[in-house]
Amino acid sequence: MNPLSLDALRHRLPELKLLTEPADLEHYGRDWTRRWTPAPLAIALPASVEEVQTIVRWANEFGVAIVPSGGRTGLSGGAVAASGELVVSLDRLNRVLTFDAIDRTLTVQPGIALEAIQNAAREHGLVYPVDFGARGSCQIGGNIATNAGGIRVIRYGNTRNWIAGIKVITGAGELLDLNRGLIKNATGYDLRHLFIGSEGTLGIVVEATLALTDAPPPSQVMLFAIPHMDALMQVFGACRARLSLSAFEFFTDRALHHVAAHGAQKPFAESSPYYVVTEFDAAGEAQQAEALAVFEHCLENGWVSDGVISQSEAQARSLWRLREDITESLAPHKPYKNDISVRIAVVPAFLHDMQDLLMREYPHFDVVWFGHIGDGNLHINIVKPAEVDYAVFIAECERVTELMCDVLARHGGSISAEHGIGLVKKPYLASARSAADIALMRGIRAVLDPNGIMNPGKLF
Ligand code: FAD
Ligand code: MLT
Ligand code: ZN
Repeated sequence: MNPLSLDALRHRLPELKLLTEPADLEHYGRDWTRRWTPAPLAIALPASVEEVQTIVRWANEFGVAIVPSGGRTGLSGGAVAASGELVVSLDRLNRVLTFDAIDRTLTVQPGIALEAIQNAAREHGLVYPVDFGARGSCQIGGNIATNAGGIRVIRYGNTRNWIAGIKVITGAGELLDLNRGLIKNATGYDLRHLFIGSEGTLGIVVEATLALTDAPPPSQVMLFAIPHMDALMQVFGACRARLSLSAFEFFTDRALHHVAAHGAQKPFAESSPYYVVTEFDAAGEAQQAEALAVFEHCLENGWVSDGVISQSEAQARSLWRLREDITESLAPHKPYKNDISVRIAVVPAFLHDMQDLLMREYPHFDVVWFGHIGDGNLHINIVKPAEVDYAVFIAECERVTELMCDVLARHGGSISAEHGIGLVKKPYLASARSAADIALMRGIRAVLDPNGIMNPGKLF
């Protein structure tokens, strides 16, 4: 890189906040993966769309790579800057711009936290329904760039479903205003969707118009202890047939072990190999009675060995903590994270094949299963034994991931359900996308980012 390039940027944008202190480079140069050593050139914190555009134009001119950076809660290394890139943090663009009561949309800047959006929607009696554990620190720009999923996908779908419009600065430095909140817009290719899930490789999201929806009816949370793997999807079938579900999540006893070591109270006297947390509409006594009937039906069939239904919001929250705190409880161990999916109908057969594979290939590692099983999405985390060297551990996990890709291919699944490819899953992209798919993706990238400055090395 031309050493004068940062001076040129300062000259063009004298007001731009630029950080170069080692502590800032370290802080902004990494995400939750913690696998790569941060080494960015500098951190830019633009305060306007114009500043973002000027930065991207400058980067094209000087051949500087850009890493767009949100809340850096990503789990695939998408926001990692380890090769002298300029990190463009959207932290200062963090406001709600407008609410439209007729359209029921909220227009926001990209650096606003997911939780702040949820709160803003609630103030207007509506809901932004995408939700997950990182809500307090992840940003809508990051959510869009990863097409984030979470715990309500079973009812509301992924982030993509809620994006009524976005403004982006492409890698070429053009400002695009895509879809403008229209519900109907039959004017050719819907470019908005190219940017959703593009992991910062096509451009920078600088504004988003989000669709909101009605607040759901009152709900209850049920926690089931499940005695064997086949029962997981039997319980799912029973719940889905008779209840209106907004979440259906699972975890294993190993996950509960880590959450309990992190401070949670174990829910049942007896431990069980699997657990399910499900949330369902329970506006009146009839729905609550139906939930009880489902529970009894599952008990009679031997699919459930114990259970609890929340009787208060506080109890519902504490049941959710058992599922939502898994990621944080595992984080100090720097686990190797798998984020895989198959169609829901294939889950039972897939679970068996995966279990065979993991028991055979990881006889000595702590294998922690959890995730959004109601969407066909499993998070299988491998915890490193203390005595094993980290590099050896990663190499071993990568060897097993190759085998996992074969199992996924047999079941028509995907190597990344919701976290993205980033750096972590890059070697496996071809296991889930055809050569023709990847060639087209590269072609699209070349059009929108002709100099390859946007998050190079991620995804491809
Ligand atoms: P970052 O990590 O900062 O960036 C992610 C990617 O987006 C990078 O490639 C980055 O370059 C790009 N990017 C960021 N901002 C922009 C922008 N403005 N324009 C263009 N590109 C941009 N994910 C799920 O899907 N479901 C879950 O249930 C879930 N639960 C989680 C729970 C915990 C406790 C944690 C730590 C993470 C969880 N995640 C989950 C992963 C993560 O929170 C999501 O991927 C989230 O969408 C990332 O948002 P972020 O702002 O932190 O993005
Ligand atoms: C979750 O579902 O908890 C998240 O995707 C985070 C994770 O996989 O650790
Ligand atoms: Zn998840």
